[in-house]
Amino acid sequence: MTSPAGPGPGPGRHILVCGGAGFIGSCFVRDVLARRDGTRITVLDVLTYAGNRANLAPAEADPEQAPRLSFVRGDIADPAAVGPLVARADAVVNFAAESHVDRSILGPEAFLRTGVIGVYVLLEAIRHETELARAGERRTAGGRPMTAPRLLQVSTDEVYGSVEEGSSREGDTLAPRSPYAAAKAAGDLLVGSYRATFDLDVVLTRGANTYGPFQHPEKLIPLVATNALLGMPIPLYGDGLQRRDWLHVTDHAAAIAFVLEHGEPGAIYNVPGGTERANREIVAALLAALGRPWDLVRRVPDRPGHDRRYAMDGARLAALGWRASVPFAAGLAATAAWYRDNAGWWRAIRDAGWDDYYARQYGARIAAGEPVPTPPGWGSTSGAGPTVAVAAFPSVGPAIELDGPEDLGA
Ligand SMILES: NC(=O)c1ccc[n+]([C@@H]2O[C@H](COP(=O)([O-])OP(=O)(O)OC[C@H]3O[C@@H](n4cnc5c(N)ncnc54)[C@H](O)[C@@H]3O)[C@@H](O)[C@H]2O)c1
Repeated sequence: MTSPAGPGPGPGRHILVCGGAGFIGSCFVRDVLARRDGTRITVLDVLTYAGNRANLAPAEADPEQAPRLSFVRGDIADPAAVGPLVARADAVVNFAAESHVDRSILGPEAFLRTGVIGVYVLLEAIRHETELARAGERRTAGGRPMTAPRLLQVSTDEVYGSVEEGSSREGDTLAPRSPYAAAKAAGDLLVGSYRATFDLDVVLTRGANTYGPFQHPEKLIPLVATNALLGMPIPLYGDGLQRRDWLHVTDHAAAIAFVLEHGEPGAIYNVPGGTERANREIVAALLAALGRPWDLVRRVPDRPGHDRRYAMDGARLAALGWRASVPFAAGLAATAAWYRDNAGWWRAIRDAGWDDYYARQYGARIAAGEPVPTPPGWGSTSGAGPTVAVAAFPSVGPAIELDGPEDLGA
């Protein structure tokens, strides 16, 4: 059951959110500030192509929330930027990462810089503050004693690699198969090493494939939704039977806040969504929700090393007292509607630097692409309109019970 193990959101709490202008980080910031409980947040974000100040606009436009939110543009791999901010924080949540597998295949270096050096710089700052706290020398600007800061490192199911059957548990061997996943796994191992060696207060979450509003249009669900809305061809990698577990972004952000507050020091928590789907089912459901024809879909050569399936066991997080609550059918329908109704948000992204990436990633693939046979239940290949309902795909079963947690430092 829940235990008051760490500094979650609350009155007087100050959380440093690294990567807080991205998709999941900005949801965490918006949702924590919307609790109106006095939590203060500083966002540290270097604003890569994926970082977007507009993602924080709802909080910045709210007169009660805006004074509790600060934004600093800076790099988590820069000790001079990180040190002073960690010094003022009760907790640090690290969302910052290069996050797109396809881009990690086009150019891995940035993934390593943020995922390895960036995580190391954060850990060194946490270590320094922990040593100060242990010596009784960690204080607020007003002279009040402060405890050591907790670090929550946000990780991913992709570190387990492709899981053909069953579901990954937190103690399973890491077997990343893309440069993105390898950089994330390296970050996980660094966090574990600092737990074992320096006894830092760290926790780690591994979230499932996340979807919802404000996701960069390079990712599967926004790419399909925005291409569909534009009437453009929709690339489907290979047979489209790669399977993913889907987690709504508000659930992912809520799980992170929950683990920040209740997670046992040194523990890893899987955050599954509980809804497994093949990619082509996702495409069909989105086209149905947006009323667009299946014949937009083009089969394109698969991603090299494309993992077939991810699935995680969520029993440990369930035992702590949390599980996902957004039903997938409703969440996906609302997400499709959000992209339909917020074209200004994604058009600004697709207008800026998007064409180069899109041409490199999909140009030749789509040129060589083939139509994909119409799935059963679809009315027509010629655009007469879909008959597949978003709710037509059943969920997978409940999580399996398992033994107690392994420690990060084990
Ligand atoms: N999206 C998913 O499906 C998913 C699933 C599980 C875990 N995750 C993890 O969650 C985290 C957030 O993912 P996301 O989808 O929101 O990614 P995102 O790409 O939308 O956001 C990443 C943010 O980090 C910032 N950033 C990148 N490098 C930085 C650096 N060196 N210093 C400071 N800021 C930097 C970017 O500007 C951006 O705002 C990542 O760590 C990712 O690995 C994502």
